Amino acid sequence: MSSTPEEVKSTARKAWSAVSYDALGALLLPAAVRLVDACAISAGQEILDVAAGHGNLAITAAAEGAAVTASDITPAMVERGMARSVEEGVEIDWVEADVEQLPFEDASFDCVASVFGAMLAPQPERVAAELFRVVRPGNTVGMANWVPDGFIARLLEAREQFLSRPDWMSSPTLWGDPDVVAERFDGLAGSLTTERDSLRCEFDSPEEMADWFSRNAGNEVLARERLGEAVYGEMRESMLGLISEFGGVAGQPVAIDCEYLVVVARRRG
Ligand SMILES: C[S@@+](CC[C@H](N)C(=O)[O-])C[C@H]1O[C@@H](n2cnc3c(N)ncnc32)[C@H](O)[C@@H]1O
Repeated sequence: MSSTPEEVKSTARKAWSAVSYDALGALLLPAAVRLVDACAISAGQEILDVAAGHGNLAITAAAEGAAVTASDITPAMVERGMARSVEEGVEIDWVEADVEQLPFEDASFDCVASVFGAMLAPQPERVAAELFRVVRPGNTVGMANWVPDGFIARLLEAREQFLSRPDWMSSPTLWGDPDVVAERFDGLAGSLTTERDSLRCEFDSPEEMADWFSRNAGNEVLARERLGEAVYGEMRESMLGLISEFGGVAGQPVAIDCEYLVVVARRRG
């Protein structure tokens, strides 16, 4: 069990080092494209992608002609992001950084954005303060966050039965509740809009879907390593139960719309 913020972050680094990320990154890419559009990221702007993974939003923004910095707490992700930027032929500054302590001057960027990343940090009030500190007054903070009643949030919560979240840490999926976001951005944002969207997950069967997550989602891979195959078997059963709640039928093709909240806020001028 992780009992301090530093331990939560150390677990996150281990989990995200344990997967190749290419498959999960490909699944999540449309949400990055959606957030780039929602934030109206365009050529000439200075952009920070926070908890950037292997650079879905960063690379999309750079392809628009923006000057992009990408940051992530996991060194292996930063390495993957650097290699992918070279493959894609875009120039991005990669920095290893914790969203709760960003190594940038105040008011450095025109847009600071995070796709399913900043929401995972353990201290949401620090996350909000840091996102708004480094964006210029009047400019944009964007987030894509899993909604609390959606499939992925339910999956993350089901995992907490096996990998306990510390008592002091609120559920990351609260970042998908518009009222909670408004509370956390109170005094920081001059305006705030939120809208639900979804990513479609399609597999040949619920069993294939469960196995795919067990290979590609960081916390699934770490749980398997830490808890052993017997406990992992229980986790897989609980995932199959959840897939069936969302309409999956054993042995048949399954499609689940994984809902998330698109958040766009302007820093007070
Ligand atoms: C689900 S991935 C999302 C990655 C990327 N934004 C994307 O859209 O593909 C979550 C990422 O958050 C990063 N992360 C987790 N906790 C973090 C923290 N406290 N500060 C910065 N990055 C963090 C992980 O290393 C991982 O790369």
